[in-house]
Amino acid sequence: MPTSIARAHTNIALVKYWGKADTDLIIPQTSSLSLTLDQFYTDTSVTFDERLTADQVVVNHQSLSPTASRKVRHVLDLVRHQAQTTTFAQVTSQNHVPTAAGLASSASAFAALAAAASRAAGLTLDRTALSRLARRGSGSATRSIFGGFVEWQAGHDDATSYAVPFQEHVTWPIAMVALVLDPHRKKVSSRQGMQASVTTSPYYPAWRQVVAQDLAAIKPAILAQDFPIVGTILESNAMRMHALTLSAQPAYSYFNGDSLAAMQTVRDLRAAGTACYYTLDAGPNVKVFCQAADLPTITQRFSAQFGADRVLVAHPGPGVQWLSEPL
Ligand code: PMV
Repeated sequence: MPTSIARAHTNIALVKYWGKADTDLIIPQTSSLSLTLDQFYTDTSVTFDERLTADQVVVNHQSLSPTASRKVRHVLDLVRHQAQTTTFAQVTSQNHVPTAAGLASSASAFAALAAAASRAAGLTLDRTALSRLARRGSGSATRSIFGGFVEWQAGHDDATSYAVPFQEHVTWPIAMVALVLDPHRKKVSSRQGMQASVTTSPYYPAWRQVVAQDLAAIKPAILAQDFPIVGTILESNAMRMHALTLSAQPAYSYFNGDSLAAMQTVRDLRAAGTACYYTLDAGPNVKVFCQAADLPTITQRFSAQFGADRVLVAHPGPGVQWLSEPL
């Protein structure tokens, strides 16, 4: 069968997904809204090959063990089921994202896998079906099928839980500065972390209300390109998500000392007149939402604090695409 290659970009949630209603199907407790980023992406090639006796998964030139490739094989099984084949696949993936450091490499990885594997198996899935398939690998991957601002509509079952573009072509001159404060794998996976929050944080019911309010408020603010309102919402939404980690039993946190220092720098910049806002996912890395015109001020400040090699600048990025060249 032919090889198919796909590229998907990662996304940063402005209104976060934090908690599953169905852990097997990955149906979220709430809807969420993200911005796809241009700088961080995954290229994945998939070939179904009759000669293979098992799926082979190579990520960043390293062969994954059957345990490490469990989620990838799960998505391949779903594709095989739809395509009515039992043939194993060779999957080769290159991540251009600091893996598992809270920059959501799983989002770009499973979106690229869904696109490459389905096409390699001869399926022609529309973007809704691709979004549903990507969801089965990682929740945030649901949104990486689309570019720009994307909403993952929670739905209530496999058929109704998928992302839709909210504003795919972004003309607003905004940027996201990613501070790589710790490039290592996170200690509490997002799966474990969100499950602990759902089942043990007394604040979880309040979080569901927060998300509903934030989604309702952020959408018109995005359309109006109202930077302070979008920034204020995404910052408070992130802090309220992280309050679910601190209020879990046992409590845990994704922040490290540098995360706290970076958040303080954002507040200092703001007090000095440079509007910018922070967000963090399931890791210590801080992402700073800013206006493109302020990038020199902001990157200089963080380069002085953490080193220029730790300061990465991204802009709104595109949805999933298929590539013709092999990796
Ligand atoms: O897709 P997962 O299971 O890695 O969960 C992602 C969770 C957050 O990144 C913290 C929030 C989000 O909406 O992306």
